[in-house]
Amino acid sequence: MAEINLLSKYPKAKRNIEARVANKNENRIIALKFGREYFDGTREQGYGGFKYDGRWLPIAQDIVDHYGLKAGSSVLDIGCAKGFLVKDLMKVCPGLEVFGIDISSYAVLNCEQETVGRLHLGDARSLPFPDASFDLALSINTIHNFDKKGCIKALSEMTRVAPKAGYVQVDAYRNEEEKNIFLDWVLTAKTHGTPEFWKKLIFEANYKGDYYWTIL
Ligand SMILES: C[S@@+](CC[C@H](N)C(=O)[O-])C[C@H]1O[C@@H](n2cnc3c(N)ncnc32)[C@H](O)[C@@H]1O
Repeated sequence: MAEINLLSKYPKAKRNIEARVANKNENRIIALKFGREYFDGTREQGYGGFKYDGRWLPIAQDIVDHYGLKAGSSVLDIGCAKGFLVKDLMKVCPGLEVFGIDISSYAVLNCEQETVGRLHLGDARSLPFPDASFDLALSINTIHNFDKKGCIKALSEMTRVAPKAGYVQVDAYRNEEEKNIFLDWVLTAKTHGTPEFWKKLIFEANYKGDYYWTIL
């Protein structure tokens, strides 16, 4: 269990915060459906076009190296969206058994061709897999979408299905300035706080994996 940034190679996003603030409540309601608008609608409503561009490849390589994954190892990506990370993990480590789960039928129905049959529709708070099914569970920028009780449930589910290794990343802020940017920009997060807040929650959930923060 360690604080480690495995997304250090993720490109920094460009954000027009003013445009999003304008219709924040409406955009939030739309985004929380995790449907077409959230992924492939306007930037105010979510990603503004969620397309594969290979950005996860160096991150996938870092994950494989860090956890010593090899052909036959099994990985679950919780909140996998269209399966970009699932695809890239399989690309950098041929023979790796990678699966994903997401609440969005839009995302799963529009997944990367290489991930067809590997993505499940389901809820991170109640994973439909037996105990110790995977060598590693990942969840990137997903768990903060739940209320506090849901975050604890999702974290404990990660450790239940992958007791050997986990990596969770959530939105966080370290000071008032970062908090204000976060509050203006983020549409879907229901639980948020400082790294210290998250560390307490992780402890409460008895989560045993690694963790890091997305700071906007
Ligand atoms: C911010 S996106 C992150 C997607 C991907 N992990 C990434 O980092 O690009 C959050 C994802 O969580 C999914 N999600 C939201 N609620 C969920 C739930 N209850 N169970 C599983 N996935 C959920 C959304 O559909 C969306 O794909």
